[in-house]
Amino acid sequence: MVLERLRLDGRTAIVAGAGGGGIGTATSLTLAEAGADIVAVDIDAERVEDTKRRVGELGRKCLGIVADIRQKTDVERVVSQAVKEFGAVHYVANVAGGMKDDQWGEVLEYGERQFDEVISLNLRYAFLVCQAAAKSMVELGIKGSMVSVASVSGLAGAPYHGPYGAAKAGLMALTRTMAVELGPRGIRVNAVAPGSVKTPRVMAMASRDIDESSKTTIPIGKPCQPDDIAAGILFLLSDLARSVSGHTLVIDGGATAKFSLTGRTPEQIEEQKQARG
Ligand SMILES: NC(=O)c1ccc[n+]([C@@H]2O[C@H](COP(=O)([O-])OP(=O)(O)OC[C@H]3O[C@@H](n4cnc5c(N)ncnc54)[C@H](O)[C@@H]3O)[C@@H](O)[C@H]2O)c1
Repeated sequence: MVLERLRLDGRTAIVAGAGGGGIGTATSLTLAEAGADIVAVDIDAERVEDTKRRVGELGRKCLGIVADIRQKTDVERVVSQAVKEFGAVHYVANVAGGMKDDQWGEVLEYGERQFDEVISLNLRYAFLVCQAAAKSMVELGIKGSMVSVASVSGLAGAPYHGPYGAAKAGLMALTRTMAVELGPRGIRVNAVAPGSVKTPRVMAMASRDIDESSKTTIPIGKPCQPDDIAAGILFLLSDLARSVSGHTLVIDGGATAKFSLTGRTPEQIEEQKQARG
């Protein structure tokens, strides 16, 4: 019976940043496969259409909405259109985020406008979406669940992407606060923190072979796929995680579990032992 608790049948999920073939698309398809109807939100109209078509192919309903989720009026429109179409919002997945190429840079030189832009797309919008969705859940008496996509860049230093790391660390802190405040209303709030994920956006920016470098930097020897992150989001949204709130699930193939100061391989350890006699 435990697997029944993973099903989302008859319920509705807003996915913010649902296009692009990366984590947002994988999340929309995964939640639809688990039985949810999807509200696919993206700033790019073609991406919305693509996700809508793919959710439809799984036999679920999908309301596609083109919106800039950094704008409060757009976010409120998304929630009210979702309620009008499906009656209520039960789940939220905040997936949009990331950095453009020209937003990387040293703290010494970093511009304040760029800093604000990165915070806006990686922290501030999630506050807007969670606030609007939670208000609707409270009003309609829905015991809902929300998950935001943070990053391992918010767990340790984020060299040359300082505002991104700060935004994702803030997102994890906000997740804990919302979990405490909304728990008594029956709403759970969690986050996932991915490591390296092979999404089209990241692959287009990559200056090195991610598969090759992952063999040494990631304990399981490979980067995550978008649906690995979607699987974590499904778990946290579902009743399988009914006692989990305020948590950040790290999904990084063990990368952050590794103590980076010892770089010795078993062969090197053996060599050193023999050299010592
Ligand atoms: N890919 C990785 O390696 C990785 C690692 C850690 C964390 N993450 C996080 O995962 C999330 C998704 O990453 P991805 O690589 O799949 O990203 P992506 O850019 O492929 O997908 C995000 C989608 O959000 C949409 N979007 C962007 N701005 C928007 C806005 N203002 N309003 C509405 N939609 C908007 C984009 O059009 C895109 O379709 C991000 O939050 C990112 O920070 C990614």
